[in-house]
Parts: sequence; C-alpha cells; structure tokens
Amino acid sequence: MPPAASGGRRAPRADCRFPCPGGGAAKCRWRGVKGAVTLGAWGGRVGNGRRCVYRYAATSRPFLPMRVLGIETSCDETGLAVYDTDAGLLAHALHSQVAMHEVYGGVVPELASRDHVRRVVPLAYRVLAEAGTALADLDGIAYTQGPGLAGALLVGASIAQGLGLALGKPVVGVHHLEGHLLSPLLAEPRPVFPFVALLVSGGHSQLFEVAGVGRYRLLGDTHDDAAGEAFDKTAKLLGLGYPGGPALARLAEAGREGVVRLPRPMLESGDLDMSFSGLKTAVLTLVRRQHAAGTLDDARRADIALEFQHAVVDVLVAKALAALGATGHPRLVVAGGVGANRELRGRLSSAVERRGGRVYFPGLEFCTDNGAMIALVGALRLSSAPPGNGAFSVRPRWELASLPAV
Ligand code: KG4
Ligand code: ZN
Repeated sequence: MPPAASGGRRAPRADCRFPCPGGGAAKCRWRGVKGAVTLGAWGGRVGNGRRCVYRYAATSRPFLPMRVLGIETSCDETGLAVYDTDAGLLAHALHSQVAMHEVYGGVVPELASRDHVRRVVPLAYRVLAEAGTALADLDGIAYTQGPGLAGALLVGASIAQGLGLALGKPVVGVHHLEGHLLSPLLAEPRPVFPFVALLVSGGHSQLFEVAGVGRYRLLGDTHDDAAGEAFDKTAKLLGLGYPGGPALARLAEAGREGVVRLPRPMLESGDLDMSFSGLKTAVLTLVRRQHAAGTLDDARRADIALEFQHAVVDVLVAKALAALGATGHPRLVVAGGVGANRELRGRLSSAVERRGGRVYFPGLEFCTDNGAMIALVGALRLSSAPPGNGAFSVRPRWELASLPAV
C-alpha cells in the first residue's frame, strides 16, 4: 500500500512537459501507485505554487494512500504517531512535561526544548514498533512547524527533516491549529465537510467555517484572552496548580449553584467574537472581596470555579449556536484543550442536538496536544502536494487562514 514503489512497475511517461520538483520521472513518487496517472505530470507553473494535477485523474479517491509519522513538539508535550489514510491511526504516544514545569507555575521554554530532544527519538521508535511499520515503509514525515515555542518547534523540525533526508521521504510542516481543527477526523463517525469548528485551546478561542482541508473562514475570534488562558489564569487566582483548566474543572464539581455571580462577556454583542479577560478580572475582584471578608474558604473557591466554568461555557455555547445559525451548517466540530471540558461537551451536545444538528469531539486524549493530529494532517497534505526541497523553517507565529487549500 505505500506508494514508494520501485522497479518493475509502470513508470511515468518520459514526455512529461514540466520540470518535476520531486527529482524527475525516475524518482517520481507516484510511480507504480495504483490509480495514479503518471503522465502529463504537472499542471504548470509548479514554481509558482500551482498544483500537480495528475494525481487526481483516473481515481475516484480524493487522496492517495499515505502512511505518515507525525511529530508534535510545539509546547510542553512530545507527541508521536503513525497515521495511515486507509487504516486510520496505527499508534500514538505522548510524553507530557507537566510535572517538570509545574514547579515553575508555567512552561519554561528552554527546559521544554531539552526535554523534547530527550524524548522524541525513543517515542518515534515506540510508535513505529506498535504500528508494525519500518522506517522504510513510511510514505512521509510530518512535524508541527508552528505556531509554538521556537526552540521546541526546532526539535521536531530537525528530527523530521533529518529522517526525511536519510530515508529519501517527503517531509511536511503542519500548522498546529489545523491539527486541532481536523482532530475530530481521527474518531468515528468522521464529520463530513462543511462544518463549523469551535477551536478552544490555551492560545485560541475561534470559530471557523471549514469547507475542506485548508479551506478555513474565520467567523469569530477572542478580543483578548483565549478560553484556555482564562481557565489557567483563574485557576491561579484560586490557588490551583498548572495546567489550570483540568484543576479548575475538578474543583467546580464541589461548587454550589448560584452562590456567586459572574458576567457573561459579549453574550449580546451580536457578532461571533468573544472576550474573556474581563471575566478573569471579575474573578480577581470577587476573590479579593471574599478574602477581605474572611469568606474565601475551600467551599467558596469551588463556588467561584463552578460559576466561572458556567460563564465560559454559556458564552461558548451561545457563540457556537450563533455560528451554526449564521452558516446554516448542522455540524459542529469542537477542538483544542478546552474541548476536554465535560460541562462544555455535555451542554454543546444537547443544545446542538435540540436543533437537529450534531457535535463532533475528538477523543479526550486528542483534545490536548498530540502527535496523531499532526500525522493525520501530514498524511492529508502530503498526499496532495509535491515534496519539499529539504529546506525548513519553523513559524512560531503563523495565521491559520494563510494555509493553502488541498
Ligand atoms: O490545545 P491545548 O493542549 O494546547 C494549546 O495548543 O494551547 O490546550 C491547553 C489548554 C490549557 O489552557 C488547559 O488549561 C485547557 O486547554 N484545558 C482545559 C481542560 N483540559 C485542558 N480547560 C478546561 N477544562 C478542561 N477539562
Ligand atoms: Zn494545542
């Protein structure tokens, strides 16, 4: 099934009119792939970023089969995975640096990079063994190119490019948020395009209309803090550890309804934008007032945590429903770390189902950073893009909307 076919199979036509960035007809990576038409290879102006057209011809499959090793090192998680476009996710492994950063109350970039260096190769061997895949059987390697911490990104980028060079395999740099956005495709049933995506991570609270891979229209954004960031900062105010989101959600389980009240920012703004920094400031004011009054005990902290979670979820549910209404799409995809929040999952599911729609979540382990989503996007993109030239860079800041469509 891997398309790295060699001798004895059908070769590309020698009269291909266009220069091949993949190394010429003899090295054409589609050579011998069943269903691929290896003639008239390039649709022209390849140097200008136009796509090769032959791979879509004579096959009803939108993508050629691909088995890809994915490497995620953008922040504090080393994630490795092998994804196969036919067989699905074959293996994945994750090393979380949470314990290492916990004592500092947040991610220390230099420590993160060094830990990625230690973990990435053993984890790669582990997932390859679990997937029953030799390095030579891979069709390509995908790594998180950005956004993220520059030093941490460079670890994954260097390993991926080194492997690609040594094995003669194509390498693709993946946008981390595209990984989150498409991560619900890892689970069955897979949402079909088009859909609305609510991306709620540590750095982003955004709503997108997703028409296909790389076809993203931003519908709404946060004016300031992201939802995950608000969870983390509020958790800190309540004396909880890092990462704050899961800790705050746990504390909220003991909270009592209606004891304290917080605002629902921008609920009536009439657009799909969000803002969470005012909510965090309201918690700060409340905590100070309760502290001064001597009423800030554990029970009151839990009440605040519950009300804070209700406020964030109220806003996210209202904005997501408004986005479905504005686009007319029945399907909502939720991605990013805050997508692991149980109240958000439950409330969104019932609200969308009441309207006859459906919500798709990644499995809990694929809500936060992981290698599987990078391998998935890498496979989708590699199967429809010519291989790169070995040069690489990382993009610590990178707009999702700038990605090319597939
Ligand atoms: O997507 P992610 O792993 O990393 C980024 O790319 O940002 O998201 C991490 C964020 C953190 O802010 C974390 O506190 C939050 O997701 N988070 C949660 C929960 N689990 C993780 N927030 C609320 N409830 C949770 N259960
Ligand atoms: Zn992430």
